[in-house]
Amino acid sequence: MFNGKSILITGGTGSFGRKYTETILSRYKPARLVIYSRDELKQYEMGQQFNDPAMRYFIGDVRDVERLKRAMQGVDYVIHAAALKHVPVAEYNPNECIKTNIGGAQNVIDAAIAMDVQKVIALSTDKAANPINLYGATKLASDKLFVAANNTTGGRGPIFSVVRYGNVVGSRGSVVPLFKRLVAEGKTPLPVTHEGMTRFWITLQSGVDFVLKNFERMYGGEIFVPRIPSVRILDLVEAYSGTREADVVGIRPGEKLHEIMCPSDDSHLTLEFDDHFVLRPSIRFYHRDHDYAVNALGEVGRSVEAGFSYHSGSNPHFLTVREILALDKHV
Ligand SMILES: NC(=O)c1ccc[n+]([C@@H]2O[C@H](COP(=O)([O-])OP(=O)(O)OC[C@H]3O[C@@H](n4cnc5c(N)ncnc54)[C@H](OP(=O)(O)O)[C@@H]3O)[C@@H](O)[C@H]2O)c1
Repeated sequence: MFNGKSILITGGTGSFGRKYTETILSRYKPARLVIYSRDELKQYEMGQQFNDPAMRYFIGDVRDVERLKRAMQGVDYVIHAAALKHVPVAEYNPNECIKTNIGGAQNVIDAAIAMDVQKVIALSTDKAANPINLYGATKLASDKLFVAANNTTGGRGPIFSVVRYGNVVGSRGSVVPLFKRLVAEGKTPLPVTHEGMTRFWITLQSGVDFVLKNFERMYGGEIFVPRIPSVRILDLVEAYSGTREADVVGIRPGEKLHEIMCPSDDSHLTLEFDDHFVLRPSIRFYHRDHDYAVNALGEVGRSVEAGFSYHSGSNPHFLTVREILALDKHV
């Protein structure tokens, strides 16, 4: 579905964007793949690695709707990955996070409608479900904007959906690169904020594949959530340092002990499929009459029980230490 198409990815120089680019170029022949981000050095370095004739590097900020419109000329599909995503940074600089994550989301929507884009998928995070930190709250607001955008196009413009997932193994600034560096520098025991902490765990490649698949599944208005395993923080410590001994440094501002992807308050909207969940929109788009229980690929989902939540602490699938290390080879 991506052969001959023009695709734009905001935040294309980030962890997700680079893996997405690698995947698209190895599996498809897109007409154009536009990388949209601010920092020229990251674009320059990415250009050294990815210099396929389809590649286009656009310097631009998602806060700049006119630049987004220019970049989206002739574009078929948009992936919105640009974000400020570090919880403590967002707590300290709240308005900057709001401008990029909420204002930027609305700009992406407005530009996509203005430039007749066909499909848009925005990346979200488990921190957007029952948020307690500003980063999560801005991503929840962004999710709401993308879902509601389907109601503003009169049935003719782009369709918009959201993909929500958990911690990406090895992404920039995440715990695995930190643990590896500390172990290499001999700085053990490793720091953990709380010994009981759990997290959802997904590889970048699985995240990219899930996004690609959802371009085929989407009607617009869905929040897609993959079924993925959880990890216990002390299993991570053991995997990377060889011991369960840890230095407990205390919960950081805005940090949760466990994460949620499908909150129980949304259980009446939640459908389960074989390998993913869908949160249906709570508003009904008057111009589209889709039964989300059968997606555009014909896959059939069913309603979850009332009160169901998809929670990293009660997830039936936890990775063992050995599985964590096996997954690390794919990072
Ligand atoms: N990593 C995870 O564990 C994780 C988990 C769940 C969801 N997500 C979501 O997945 C998405 C991608 O995450 P990632 O790990 O790839 O992030 P990342 O590595 O930090 O990359 C962020 C990208 O966004 C760009 N960017 C930031 N502010 C921008 C702005 N104002 N205008 C244009 N571009 C901007 C950055 O480039 P410049 O700085 O050069 O502009 C960079 O290309 C985010 O939406 C994040 O919330 C990530």
